[in-house]
Amino acid sequence: MIVIPESTFLSDYPESCGLVCKQGDPESVSGKTVRDDRIKNSIKNSQKIMDKYHVFAQEIEQMKEDGLFNTIKVIESSQGAWLTIDGEKKLNLCSNNYLGLAAHDNLKKAVLEAVEKYGVGTGSVRALSGTNALHIELEEKLAHFKHAEAALALTGGYMANLCAIQTIIGKEDIVISDELNHASIIDGVRLSGVKTKFIYAHANMDDLSKRLEEAKEAQKELRSDGGQKRILIITDGVFSMDGDLAPLPHIVELAKKYDAFTMVDDAHGEGVLGDHGRGIVNHFNLDGEVDIEVGTMSKAFGVMGGFITGKKELIEYYRQKGRQFLFSNGLSVPDAAALIASVNTLEESDELVKKLWENAEYLKKELKALGFDTGKSESPITPVMIGDENTAKDFSTKLFENNIYATAIKFPMVPKGTARIRVMPSASHTKEDLDTGIAAFEKVGKELNVIS
Ligand SMILES: Cc1ncc(COP(=O)(O)O)c(C=O)c1O
Repeated sequence: MIVIPESTFLSDYPESCGLVCKQGDPESVSGKTVRDDRIKNSIKNSQKIMDKYHVFAQEIEQMKEDGLFNTIKVIESSQGAWLTIDGEKKLNLCSNNYLGLAAHDNLKKAVLEAVEKYGVGTGSVRALSGTNALHIELEEKLAHFKHAEAALALTGGYMANLCAIQTIIGKEDIVISDELNHASIIDGVRLSGVKTKFIYAHANMDDLSKRLEEAKEAQKELRSDGGQKRILIITDGVFSMDGDLAPLPHIVELAKKYDAFTMVDDAHGEGVLGDHGRGIVNHFNLDGEVDIEVGTMSKAFGVMGGFITGKKELIEYYRQKGRQFLFSNGLSVPDAAALIASVNTLEESDELVKKLWENAEYLKKELKALGFDTGKSESPITPVMIGDENTAKDFSTKLFENNIYATAIKFPMVPKGTARIRVMPSASHTKEDLDTGIAAFEKVGKELNVIS
């Protein structure tokens, strides 16, 4: 005879015990005493299931206690300067929709027309069942826009980083990576299985030179296939937490000296930096000099997706061998159509890029004038440095109460004690919108003694 505790989970998971328990039946689990061996076994199995999932529940509880549990807000409107959250209008100062393209009429129209003609899905992975004409058009447009020989589109910047690294780097090659590079670069390096990895101090060119010397030394030994070890230097273009830029001209110079490949992840530079928003490589007049440019189309381009641009042989190699291309579907029809419209919009006019910068400069100037520390950003990303994690959290909460949506960025995303509110202006904000945000920052900043 066994006794099932009152709090048994069995009634919560009736299907897991494999028995249909009838209410009021003395042999059933709704009574407290059970003799049936089958039920005992079922309970044991269910207990195992509970133990298996219990650890997740426990960890989630711990995250809640530690203030690390992420409650994601639900947006009830399209993306833009203002959002509807819980039925209320909130000024949006935290999205990466830099140019306001996420709900732009050109994109919406292109999607409707394309869906009429091609439907929605693309059926299978591109390499297996044929690629949609829109994928090809998008890649040609991207290559032209980026002043590159060729482009390969994937379903996200994350995928593009994995593909860009894993496809050309094997375990016997060498990777040198900035310490603040994005998680998707870190994951791409891990996936490549490369054994010789060097992390250089953030944007520190003396340190990069030292690592390149060490890499040169390691390169003296050939790979087991007799080939020379490849050296790949990887950097973010714009660093997303501080908004500073990678010293790309210096990196390219060092790469040439050491005969290394260069790769830049320009997620926050596409549509933002350079002529018409062509990105960081164009911004530094380095067109054609960085081997691998990775971009995301989920931020300034307003939709979703990622791409790699570079020399045509390299892009063809990715197309033939990249696992993220070969074993995963391409962009859907609406995504591809919207992205073509997005690139066309940027090619045609730099009005939105100019407006973004005008807004970013105004916002930074006004916040600084109020006494806020806006860090070392060289891009529209505007970190309002707070320091203490709890104060940053309170700051963001109070802003929200004042109808401003701006997120607190805390450890582990940034080092402890450097918490901040990351303010993201966009081309769709009016001056009045920005003034509304600035006034709320002043009010909350004074309330929390961040400014006097
Ligand atoms: C620097 C950087 N690289 C890559 C990505 C991933 O891009 P996606 O969202 O298109 O997968 C992000 C997205 O946050 C990013 O900030």
